[in-house]
Amino acid sequence: MGETPNTQLPSSQPALRAQTLIERDRVVLSPSLPRSYALVIDHAQGADVWDVDGKHYLDMMTGIAVTSTGHSHPEVVQAIKDQAEKFLHICLADFHYEVAVELAEKLVEIAPFEEDAQVFFTNSGAEAVETAIKLARYATGRRQFIAFQGAFHGRTIGALSLTASKFRQKEGFFPLMPGVTHVPYPDPYRPSLVDSCCDNYGEVIVNYIESKLFNGMLPASDVAGIFVEPILGEGGYVVPPPDFFPALRDLCDRYGVLLIADEVQSGMGRTGKWWAIEHFGVEPDIVTTAKGLASGMPLGAVIARKSLMTWKPGAHGSTFGGNPVSCAASLATIRLIENGLMENARTVGEHLLEQVADLMVQHPLIGDVRGLGMMIGLEIVSDRDARTPSHDLRDRIVERAFEEGLLLLGAGDSIIRLMPPLMLSKEQADTAIDILDRVLSSVEEEHRTLAAVG
Ligand SMILES: Cc1ncc(COP(=O)(O)O)c(C=O)c1O
Repeated sequence: MGETPNTQLPSSQPALRAQTLIERDRVVLSPSLPRSYALVIDHAQGADVWDVDGKHYLDMMTGIAVTSTGHSHPEVVQAIKDQAEKFLHICLADFHYEVAVELAEKLVEIAPFEEDAQVFFTNSGAEAVETAIKLARYATGRRQFIAFQGAFHGRTIGALSLTASKFRQKEGFFPLMPGVTHVPYPDPYRPSLVDSCCDNYGEVIVNYIESKLFNGMLPASDVAGIFVEPILGEGGYVVPPPDFFPALRDLCDRYGVLLIADEVQSGMGRTGKWWAIEHFGVEPDIVTTAKGLASGMPLGAVIARKSLMTWKPGAHGSTFGGNPVSCAASLATIRLIENGLMENARTVGEHLLEQVADLMVQHPLIGDVRGLGMMIGLEIVSDRDARTPSHDLRDRIVERAFEEGLLLLGAGDSIIRLMPPLMLSKEQADTAIDILDRVLSSVEEEHRTLAAVG
């Protein structure tokens, strides 16, 4: 077999040790891994990351919203060590252990609904979504689902069927799970059902579901659930308008459809509340979580109303789901979030959003800023008045920031997402803004020069 490079090296050449490692990586790792830029990590602590050549970076992307308490928080590391010395595995599907029970009790306590809850543990976000698909079908006896354009719910076949983010994620994998209908996400900056956004755009979307689907091509009596990200994640950090969730909850209640909040990215305190849906004053029926749940140890969970957990022993299970080391890391993570990090996400997140809004005043490449807590999106446009999205400029900014020691990640077509660790200090936030300011100025200068030339 010929050796096809799996990633194009970004224009900035990594230093020697990083370059060597990337060359070895290309040979043996799957070329499907998208890779953002040539970061080769050596070690990390809190919001600080060092690469194998000793260069320092400030982390505003946390391995896609995962290292919620910061890299290798000492209390999380200690909990992992303590549990690893006791036992690594016994299989929660067949046996019992306290650390899993204690974590489930905690998740039941913080579940975003009044009713009692029960928990199913998985190893990832996609597995949590698969579990929610199966549970919703089992509990309702219905088969169909509604999901949103721009949504990302994972890459396994069921979860991928709900995903409608990037073409490349689905190309080559059809047919997927039948029975999923996608509707527009209520994006106030880029509304697709109205010419320009209005006060009641959330209701417009919900009315569309009712009039075009339930009274048109999709009988509500066949719909098990609506999967929704309370803040669109991979699709572009879109915060829905305030009227959306109350109208959606009402629709679900009227038709007996389950409201399934995918909080894999938005949950676990990132937005300043345990769950992003809590900002919108409604209670979902099922919640999926993963990513920040265990600070970087693989763990996911489905938290559902107890009245829905009607499935029989053997209906669903997992060998590794609820791994004791991951559960211990999660309990330490939750303690840290309750004891200050959620509040820090809210206050430093607000500060960060204000600073980003100030950047927008100076930098025409920023078309929109939005977010809650430490989940902030900047939409990059080549023409602010026309709201022309610019994928290339966005990528150039992310790449240039990397060269300047700031780790960012894109989302959607033209969005930069800021998802720092919840322990980020105000000073670190200001450092990130200073670097971003410089990077935006240089990319803007280049953009102006290129536009003048050609
Ligand atoms: C909202 C959402 N759901 C599900 C997933 C899938 O999670 P995982 O990559 O752990 O399978 C992601 C991952 O980005 C996500 O953002």
